Amino acid sequence: MRAVNSTDVIGNAVAYSTMWSAPLSDLPPSRSKKFYILWRNRLVEGFVVNFGGQLYAYVNYCIHAGTQLDWWPNEFFDNDRRFLKCSTHGSLYKPETGKCASGPCAGRGLFPLQVKVTNGRVVITSG
Ligand code: FES
Repeated sequence: MRAVNSTDVIGNAVAYSTMWSAPLSDLPPSRSKKFYILWRNRLVEGFVVNFGGQLYAYVNYCIHAGTQLDWWPNEFFDNDRRFLKCSTHGSLYKPETGKCASGPCAGRGLFPLQVKVTNGRVVITSG
């Protein structure tokens, strides 16, 4: 998995942590949002999706060949918005579990991140 340097983001030193948050209003149904987070002592890209009114978050890493999933920046859902679709070879992941339902990684799953909503904010943690 590619580690991300702080200079990859905006060219400034940034203090990353194992928590990220955003206003819940940024995530209406069928929308997603990317972020950086420390996960297993590495800075990685994560994403959170609103699927049917529930929020789910994963490391942005396809377990087939290790590429990022989004086929356009911050676009993860397939055309029917039922699955998360890997842009590289088309694996389909169930948004609610992260399990691969179809494609070269069938039976395996994305790396989950913890999600909760507090005081109108979505809070993601990797610990
Ligand atoms: S890298 Fe995602 S399906 Fe191949």
